Amino acid sequence: MSLLQRTIFTGFSPNSTGTHVKIALSYLFLPWKWFSLRKGEALEETKQKILDYFSTPHAVLFDSGRSALFFALKALGVGEGDRVLVQAYTCVVVINAIRWVGAEPVFVDIRDDYTMDPNDLKQKINQKAKTLIIQHTFGQPAALDALCMIAKEHRLSIIEDCAHSFGVSYRGQYTGTFGDVGLFSFGSDKSMSCVRGGAVIVRDAALAKKLEEMERGLRPSSWVKIIQHLIHVPVFFVGKATYGFFGFGKALLFLAKFFHMTNRIMYKPEKRGKPVPFYPRQFPNALADLLKGELNTINTVNEKRKKISFIYRAKICNSSVQHPVDDVSFVPLRYTVRTKNPERLRAFAKTYSIILGDWYSQVIAPQTCDLSTFGYTQGECPLAERIAEESVNLPTERHMTEKDIARVVEMMNAYTDHPV
Ligand SMILES: Cc1ncc(COP(=O)(O)O)c(C=O)c1O
Repeated sequence: MSLLQRTIFTGFSPNSTGTHVKIALSYLFLPWKWFSLRKGEALEETKQKILDYFSTPHAVLFDSGRSALFFALKALGVGEGDRVLVQAYTCVVVINAIRWVGAEPVFVDIRDDYTMDPNDLKQKINQKAKTLIIQHTFGQPAALDALCMIAKEHRLSIIEDCAHSFGVSYRGQYTGTFGDVGLFSFGSDKSMSCVRGGAVIVRDAALAKKLEEMERGLRPSSWVKIIQHLIHVPVFFVGKATYGFFGFGKALLFLAKFFHMTNRIMYKPEKRGKPVPFYPRQFPNALADLLKGELNTINTVNEKRKKISFIYRAKICNSSVQHPVDDVSFVPLRYTVRTKNPERLRAFAKTYSIILGDWYSQVIAPQTCDLSTFGYTQGECPLAERIAEESVNLPTERHMTEKDIARVVEMMNAYTDHPV
């Protein structure tokens, strides 16, 4: 990695902007804003923007997507002894939410486009199945027509997991509006971010009431966590900008993480299937303020993601690398390619000062999770297992310049490995 070349990141809070930094610093340093760290107008304004965006009657905000999912399952009456159908090739926090309501996850295999295979779903449904989680992985809409039809036949409630697909449409309609619940994440690496946050949208008034009551029953986010999330914004902004500058930014990010000054996407107990004491909580006003403006720009940001992916598809020509399935409605949060040796490709990319992503390197990610703890048996979802072993994410983030995109293309074309 060059000591001076600007580093291109895939994750590392890709959505942070100068505006976010200004907002975060204002909450940290202007004493009169301290009164609105937890409660304030931004909460209602953000919620209204989400309602307007989806033309939906109800939205409830939570501290994260995983908390939103946990309460969505509870509100749908999922509990002890129930089964929840979920695709393999997902994040451990999704599986935790299912297990923490007392239900059992049933893993469904995926298709080449990284989303649930309707044929395998049919095989896996049984009497105890109560809910289907449809994940639009990396911004690729799942086969909603087929999946919703199967769910209807078997009277399953549907949660659409749109953690990667805010503003992505399927047959002209936004993902998140097909099922009983649309679930969104505003975590630091998601479609739009406020460091940490989540939401559900629902049409049914009774379901909305239950969710609102659950949210009202939660404690507010702790001051420490709110401050940590606000500090995260300028630290990542400076850390990334200076990452390649004699390692200054790298050291800054390392130290900030070491001293718990920045957000962690996931905590160690969660990787072992255990909850953490400081969540779930209510969504804080200061983070809603960070999120509010994101709703004005998400469509432009998504267009940019698409444009970058068109360039990758057209210009990356390497027999060692398989492109994702070509679908016009795909808005790649990460452009995920397949290759026989992902670690080798990631290491090669570093020599170009490019840090590629590792979503999802295991059927229940991250790789350090013990699959048996989460009820997954090796061989259950063979295609998901193979794809997980071959996945590498290329960046599609909003700040990429033409030169950055060209550098990624150059690196990908220079890479050599055995053909897939
Ligand atoms: C597919 C998917 N769903 C839901 C979530 C939960 O989102 P959050 O990180 O906001 O809890 C994640 C998180 O990484 C995810 O990858």
